[in-house]
Amino acid sequence: MKLKVLTVSFLIVICAGALLGQGVRSEEEIPSLWQAYAGYFPIGAAVRYQSLRSHGELLEKHFNSITAENEMKFATLQPGEGTFAFFRADEIVDFAKKNNMLVRGHTLVWHRQYPGWLFRDGAGKASAELVLERLETHINTVLPRYKGDVYCWDVVNEAVSDSMSEYLRRDSPWYQATGEAYIAEAFRIAHKADPEAKLFYNDYGATRSDKMEKICVLLEDLLAEGVPVHGMGMQGHWDIFGPTVKQIETAIRRYAALGLEVQITELDISLYHWADKRKAITDPEELAERLAMQAEKYEEVFRVFREYRDVITGVTFWGVADDLPWTDQEPVRGRKDFPLLFAATEHRPKEAFWQIVNF
Ligand code: GLA
Repeated sequence: MKLKVLTVSFLIVICAGALLGQGVRSEEEIPSLWQAYAGYFPIGAAVRYQSLRSHGELLEKHFNSITAENEMKFATLQPGEGTFAFFRADEIVDFAKKNNMLVRGHTLVWHRQYPGWLFRDGAGKASAELVLERLETHINTVLPRYKGDVYCWDVVNEAVSDSMSEYLRRDSPWYQATGEAYIAEAFRIAHKADPEAKLFYNDYGATRSDKMEKICVLLEDLLAEGVPVHGMGMQGHWDIFGPTVKQIETAIRRYAALGLEVQITELDISLYHWADKRKAITDPEELAERLAMQAEKYEEVFRVFREYRDVITGVTFWGVADDLPWTDQEPVRGRKDFPLLFAATEHRPKEAFWQIVNF
């Protein structure tokens, strides 16, 4: 009984420490994450333009690459046909330039966060030709603007289906308008618009063997046709239960074997199993255990990333600190989660941070 009380108190202390971060160290004693990985790959974070202010210090110290979480998506950049709104994306790019950071462009073609006009013509459905023409105008306006500042683009995001009986997502408005054509076209147009930029296909579930095979078929076909694809972006919205490091390693090798560079583009490690629908973990003991598992998982996956430094050209976290993870905003997963390296409170490094910098 005594032991149990002791264990529980110990776990509560760990839990508070992990949630609040390790409060005992002064700022100077905390190493810079990107500097720790300088010999390996750039370390990125997804930002909202507001987080440049709220999380500016953290970004400057620990990250040398940034991705706009929403500010470079089609609906934000071109809300009305021919009406472009660059001010938020520009602010993010300026911040990166001022702080010598790389910028990953995200994303040109996606079946979400697109403007309504894109697939309409008058009262009806826009033709394939019109949609491809609009795609060309979009890319030809956006890429030249950020030439030299944005070093790589997620050209196509999530085109492959999750369904066992489907190859490409047929519910995508891009697919419905053009069939498969939009994918190769997007890469070709992007390459012409900025021949220096590295062009990525980006997707989640990229470690799941069934989906991985479909992604590889897509990439192999594109490469065989001479379509300029340079990299595979594995999003990496993972959780403490999966995928396993073995699955992650297998996937990295598989994509690299196609001759592509590999990036982890949207990394976060949730405390919840993906099928767990609970709103929140309320038991402090359970929370402490999960934070410890998270730290261990981060350690394991970064060990694999370091091992594959020859093919991994970037690791980007999907957010900066636990006070602003995207999982808070998503209706399906609308619950408090702590998936990142820095605590919500004062942005102190969590145990997961120490696990990946001390190697
Ligand atoms: C995908 C997209 C991201 C982000 C997340 C969360 O992973 O690539 O831009 O929107 O979904 O919704």
